Amino acid sequence: MTEINFGGKKVLITGGAGFVGSNVTERVVNSGGKAIVLDDLFSGSLTNITAGIDFEFVEGSVTDMALVSKLAKEADYIAHLAARNIIVSTKNPQNDYEVNIGGTLNVLLAAQEHNVSRVVYTSSASVYGNPRILPITEDERTLTFSPYSVSKLAGENYCHAFYETYGTPVSAVRYSNIYGPKQDPRNPYCGVVSKFIEAIDKNDPPQLHGDGQQTRDFTYVDDAVDGTLLALMSPKAEGAVFNIGTGIETSIISLFEMLAELMGRDINPSYVDRRDIDNIRRRALSIESIRTRLRWTPQVGLKQGLKRTVDWYIQSQK
Ligand SMILES: NC(=O)c1ccc[n+]([C@@H]2O[C@H](COP(=O)([O-])OP(=O)(O)OC[C@H]3O[C@@H](n4cnc5c(N)ncnc54)[C@H](O)[C@@H]3O)[C@@H](O)[C@H]2O)c1
Repeated sequence: MTEINFGGKKVLITGGAGFVGSNVTERVVNSGGKAIVLDDLFSGSLTNITAGIDFEFVEGSVTDMALVSKLAKEADYIAHLAARNIIVSTKNPQNDYEVNIGGTLNVLLAAQEHNVSRVVYTSSASVYGNPRILPITEDERTLTFSPYSVSKLAGENYCHAFYETYGTPVSAVRYSNIYGPKQDPRNPYCGVVSKFIEAIDKNDPPQLHGDGQQTRDFTYVDDAVDGTLLALMSPKAEGAVFNIGTGIETSIISLFEMLAELMGRDINPSYVDRRDIDNIRRRALSIESIRTRLRWTPQVGLKQGLKRTVDWYIQSQK
């Protein structure tokens, strides 16, 4: 884990009650920072933040410019994670547009107005569509296959435009699939790892969309938090966009098999039709840029990360 000391600085974390955001909130507080969480609790929950963690919570939306501006005035840094997820976005692109694009514009305007030291924006590997070459480098062309990838890329483009036009200090990270503790299977929008863990635990055959041969690059949440906070704090990150992943492709069927083995269950998956959002066949991100510029590499291998996630899940069911 990278040592970052916030030295009492205030970090506004939008979406700080969500899966990744709550992990960011805890890390900021445990690293000497003061956390202000802005979240509308659409998909997040305050129960994600461990009892005893001292943070300020503001229930509200990034679409509320006056509120975002008021909070940015108090903040030294902003970690912008608030977003509608791909499932909601596919059902309601208008709402995705308002939150993911409009909310990001508000964050940038507020950061510029109040001279915030840095904004880190959390983008997604979905901006690459189906890549031509693996592992995908940051200069691969972008190809938006979903309204969600359009809005995540638009947020990035706004960051870049603010950096170039107004000198607003920004950086961006493109996450591959993040998994780990606090990714709650009761949340209808949670990722595949926690869905599989819950299904296997209940002896309910997990649903595999398509043939199960599609691949993803799974990154443990602590590693993603590390990379995100480096991109927030490092002078070398300003104006840049970095992939956060592992560079390793794992098929969905082998993810299922690893989890079934870890949990000691003899269970078969059930194959169902692919969904609208399953149009990306293969994914693995090159992490050369973040490795060489920010000295970040993932520390937690997939088996170890899955074991920690299963242990967290079992504990959280008690
Ligand atoms: N988890 C992944 O694998 C992954 C992959 C790529 C990108 N990302 C990006 O990382 C960020 C965090 O994702 P996550 O997996 O933690 O998702 P999440 O849904 O758990 O977290 C998003 C948080 O933002 C909040 N939110 C949504 N709309 C809001 C609004 N209008 N105003 C204020 N808060 C709002 C939600 O309540 C939630 O707490 C998102 O920007 C997402 O696009 C995540």
